[in-house]
Amino acid sequence: MEKSKLLEVAKKFGTPSYVYDTTKIKSQYYRLKNSFKLVNKLQINYAVKALSNLSILKYINTLGAGIDTVSIQEVILGIRAGYSPKKIIYTPNGVSIDEIYEVSKMGVNINIDNLNILEQFGNLYPETPVCIRINPHVMAGGNNKISVGHIDSKFGISIHQIPLLLRIVNNTNIKVNGIHMHTGSDILDIDVFIHATEILFETAIKFKNLEFIDFGSGFKVPYSPTDTETNIEELGVKLSKRFNKFCKDYGKEITLAFEPGKFLVSEAGKFLCSVNSIKQTTSTVFAQVDSGFNHFIRPMMYGSNHYIENISNPNDSHRFYSVVGYICETDTFASNRRISKVSEGDVLCFKNAGAYCFSMASNYNSRYKPSEVLYINNKLIEIRKRETIEDLIKNQVELDFNTL
Ligand SMILES: Cc1ncc(COP(=O)(O)O)c(C=O)c1O
Repeated sequence: MEKSKLLEVAKKFGTPSYVYDTTKIKSQYYRLKNSFKLVNKLQINYAVKALSNLSILKYINTLGAGIDTVSIQEVILGIRAGYSPKKIIYTPNGVSIDEIYEVSKMGVNINIDNLNILEQFGNLYPETPVCIRINPHVMAGGNNKISVGHIDSKFGISIHQIPLLLRIVNNTNIKVNGIHMHTGSDILDIDVFIHATEILFETAIKFKNLEFIDFGSGFKVPYSPTDTETNIEELGVKLSKRFNKFCKDYGKEITLAFEPGKFLVSEAGKFLCSVNSIKQTTSTVFAQVDSGFNHFIRPMMYGSNHYIENISNPNDSHRFYSVVGYICETDTFASNRRISKVSEGDVLCFKNAGAYCFSMASNYNSRYKPSEVLYINNKLIEIRKRETIEDLIKNQVELDFNTL
């Protein structure tokens, strides 16, 4: 998106606002699809948790994707956005068996990552096929919080428990239609990815009724013009060839599935905020913006490094700033960052704001959540209005202490 369009968003819808460019979502979708063109049956299930606005879900549906969900609420949003239950996979962790039963009644594919839950589910609904999430014990991913396939992780069924898993499958007679893994996000090294897939193939061959293998996600996207990314094209060729060989050995052509979040929407999103004030201290020049970790928590939560541009004054001399929010705790978006000279009222644009940004926003400090805007066919359309005081209080039960 051009700077003039981004400034138009700030002017028309105010700040802070998120804006999503559909062209980028589409090009990423086709880039992934083309990278795996050697595979006959490919299924891309968008990870709803990354960005769950209904209009985004509907747009991704028009591309032909399915969705990956982690809660019954995400499933309901997906169905409302028009996804057929057959194109939804539900991968919960630590949710109650009751929620799993309820989702399975909706006709959604269930992915189970716990032997105890599998046994209970299999005893009650042996005729409902399930996918199994394996923990391959691989340390992958950009940081501890998003590394989820290692031996101490709460996710997946350990590869060392395969004999017990098989026993439960036999005893309950449950049909296993898929094998799944997701080892982490921001996996740069495709050899790490390939290593984990080998473990999954070794596991998958032990199940006779598979319809798909789901390799999760974790593709790293660049966070600045000089940052690195997963070589998806190389991974595509290598994994496709290996997958086709697996299908030959297995004696059946099954589906290769992925569930990308970041890869599809991270770069499509920009976050716009305005500079409230410039504050010079003894050591630092702070650019204080009309936002904080209530709207954009990734730098504070994961230490992620989002490229920041002053789109109101892009060509001035560069200075060093710490970009901070207005929250009552330390909420540093970026330290010592080189940005074109910043003044009060300037609009700053944060890149890679599509994934895990709005979906992690809160009302901390009783601030309204940002609005969300879609850029499609050269049009800017608000897809989530800025909140009002009514939104903050609508579910609160206000007591009258004079009557109690
Ligand atoms: C099970 C599962 N699948 C897919 C994803 C999406 O990962 P990414 O955003 O790195 O593509 C996640 C992210 O947390 C996940 O937990």
